Amino acid sequence: MNSLPPTPFTDAADTWNRRFEAEAYCFGTEPNAWLREHAGVWQPGQRVLCVADGEGRNSVWLAGQGLRVDAFDVASVGVAKARALAEKNGVSVNFSVTDCDAYLWPQSAYDGVAAIFVQFADPAMRERLFAHIKHCLKPGGTLLLQGYTPKQLDYKTGGPPQVTHLYTEAMLREAFADFEVIELHEYEAELTEGDHHHGRSALIGLVARRR
Ligand SMILES: C[S@@+](CC[C@H](N)C(=O)[O-])C[C@H]1O[C@@H](n2cnc3c(N)ncnc32)[C@H](O)[C@@H]1O
Repeated sequence: MNSLPPTPFTDAADTWNRRFEAEAYCFGTEPNAWLREHAGVWQPGQRVLCVADGEGRNSVWLAGQGLRVDAFDVASVGVAKARALAEKNGVSVNFSVTDCDAYLWPQSAYDGVAAIFVQFADPAMRERLFAHIKHCLKPGGTLLLQGYTPKQLDYKTGGPPQVTHLYTEAMLREAFADFEVIELHEYEAELTEGDHHHGRSALIGLVARRR
């Protein structure tokens, strides 16, 4: 039988487990800057989901802000590092190892979703992922999303090389047309988020609320 060789997107767990094998945290242990700047949309005690949370920098920081945090990622090695980071910081996060298509998404359950650099998703997977994110938020719940724009292909300082995985303002405005868009910006910044997101970057950030 002919089969195509695995790619980072067809064998995500293996690809990411290899990346996360190093002792260092690929994206650092500090939260993403967009998330840190906008996390005030949530109040302590509220329930938040971190999608594809990797080595836990975002979920652990949010738990430290007093939120009740669920987090999942496809890479067990990343989640093991996330658990270690939570223990080191004395916080509790409900972690699970799962592909985003297999996560048991609850309906109308979360006050917030953090989707930070989840551009592993091609257009078909992204459509499913965004639909899950929308339905798992309670009415009034807020999504914080950060990604790269196509200009990032010039900078090559992080993110996938496929333009179809990247976001534009128009694309996110259409995808979240049924949400109240509170903030949506394309911007550039110097990122220092571990070795993997480092340097001049073409970014986009979204804050959107379920109606
Ligand atoms: C660029 S990293 C970002 C990690 C984390 N959100 C952060 O900001 O530090 C992308 C993450 O997506 C995870 N991932 C890739 N494909 C996935 C899938 N199909 N389902 C769930 N997680 C996936 C990887 O394991 C990796 O942790």
